[in-house]
Amino acid sequence: MHKDVERILLTKEQISDKVESIAKEIDKDYAGSVPILLCILNGGAVFAVDLMRQMQVDAEIDFMQVSSYGKGMRSRGEITILKDAYLDLKDRDVIIIEDIADTCITLKGLIKKLKEYRPKSLKLCVLINKTGVREPSEDIDIDYKGFDIPNVFVVGYGLDYANKYRDLPYVGILKPEVYS
Ligand code: PRP
Repeated sequence: MHKDVERILLTKEQISDKVESIAKEIDKDYAGSVPILLCILNGGAVFAVDLMRQMQVDAEIDFMQVSSYGKGMRSRGEITILKDAYLDLKDRDVIIIEDIADTCITLKGLIKKLKEYRPKSLKLCVLINKTGVREPSEDIDIDYKGFDIPNVFVVGYGLDYANKYRDLPYVGILKPEVYS
């Protein structure tokens, strides 16, 4: 275990089992279609490529990078697009692939933006959903969800702190002294 990690929350095995079961669900739902997996950088990259390799249906992958930072913007629930999708999403089945839903501001902003591209369908696949963060009215429907976790500071499997720890094969709780 990494020295900065207090405890492992999701093991490598738990994650790979979950990725496999989500891939099977997507296979079933998208039989006969070629969905676009729209990976949200940077955190979603590890999950997206693992998921794609477990799926049997043909899929395309594309990448977007957004930021919900900037005080005023965040409170207005807006996002800035740092890198837009390369593929034309119009009339396509699009699945957003995210590592984590926290306040859900990023996802809400993304969904609003992506609807402007007129995809045939738009679904949401999130590995980790933080609970106890949002009011029920601020919640969002996640079509494919991996794990519900409490409101703890997690890193690994794509999730970072100051751009570190993304390479850990598990999801762990970061020691408070690292970020405080
Ligand atoms: C993280 C994560 C989500 C977002 C979730 O991204 O990957 O995109 O925060 O937070 P929210 O639900 O409160 O909006 P971040 O902006 O840290 O970039 P990264 O993926 O490059 O780490």
